[in-house]
Amino acid sequence: MNDLEKLKEEALLELKQVKTKEELQEVKSKYLGKKGVISSLLKKIREIPPEERKEFGRKVNEVKSALEDALRRREEELKRSELEEKLSKEWVDLTFPLQRTAGKLHPITLTLERIVEIFRGMGFQVEKGPEVELEDYNFDKLNIPPDHPARDMQDTFYVNREGHLLRTHTSPVQIRTMLKQKPPIQIIAPGKVYRRDDDPTHSPMFHQVEGLVVNEYANFRHMKFVIEEFLREFFQTDLPVRFRTSYFPFTEPSAEVDIGCVICGQEGCRVCKGTGWLEVMGCGMVHPAVLENCGVDTEFYQGFAFGMGVERLAMLLYGIDNIKLFYENDIRFINQF
Ligand code: PHE
Repeated sequence: MNDLEKLKEEALLELKQVKTKEELQEVKSKYLGKKGVISSLLKKIREIPPEERKEFGRKVNEVKSALEDALRRREEELKRSELEEKLSKEWVDLTFPLQRTAGKLHPITLTLERIVEIFRGMGFQVEKGPEVELEDYNFDKLNIPPDHPARDMQDTFYVNREGHLLRTHTSPVQIRTMLKQKPPIQIIAPGKVYRRDDDPTHSPMFHQVEGLVVNEYANFRHMKFVIEEFLREFFQTDLPVRFRTSYFPFTEPSAEVDIGCVICGQEGCRVCKGTGWLEVMGCGMVHPAVLENCGVDTEFYQGFAFGMGVERLAMLLYGIDNIKLFYENDIRFINQF
């Protein structure tokens, strides 16, 4: 019994002198490990005279739990002092002078924000749709039949054979919105679109902003007013704007919108190819077939829609002559906006 008491004193003293986690681990396995002092003592219990066994067992277990407690406490202490040491070593000098290298927003981001803000001012809500879209929403429900040239593998990135593709325009957001929301609808949908196109004026990924208005009285003059107001607000001048008759499967009648060339002031230049006009968006009255595909009652409702190319508008706004500049992430370019 005296030996056991001595053993306990020794072990506790050893623990006190422990300085690191590794040393702690050593003491732990020396006393409490599978082949440690305590378990070999417990194995010896059979050599003890039966009348002393109970007392011996009790004492060994007492020593064991005293050691376990002390170990736990010592571990806590070590952890705390380790943390304190770390905190005193690692610190940040908040007065250290920094070079000012604040980030800049990309010109496409700036242009998107500018467009969105103007339409919000006119009471439009912002909607988003996925870039991986259903063929059904990108084409079928927009009244683009399966044999339409826009569906050609030349133009569309197909994701799989189960009807998923990278949307070729933001018009599927028209479908998504009408399927989930009853008129009146007045939304814009900014976002990325993808086409198998890559030359000095086309990029395989670019941005569009879609607009959709559906209510009981929407007509072509409303659309013309909204678009003209938008363009004058966007370019901050009283630009000439013209609506040129055109064709889209999902609008009828359809038009393309031209603005007087902002580069040459309609004198005729390389950008407007000498015509004095620049095409900036497509638009039209939503085709009744499209409304019906989305469960909108054409007895009561009609709508107009438009879609614009953001890169095009950004190039005109900032006087950028090459679309590739947007995607190179050259800091000297980005820093100019
Ligand atoms: N989705 C058409 C395009 O990408 C643009 C458009 C949108 C035209 C809405 C009419 C109405 O070219």
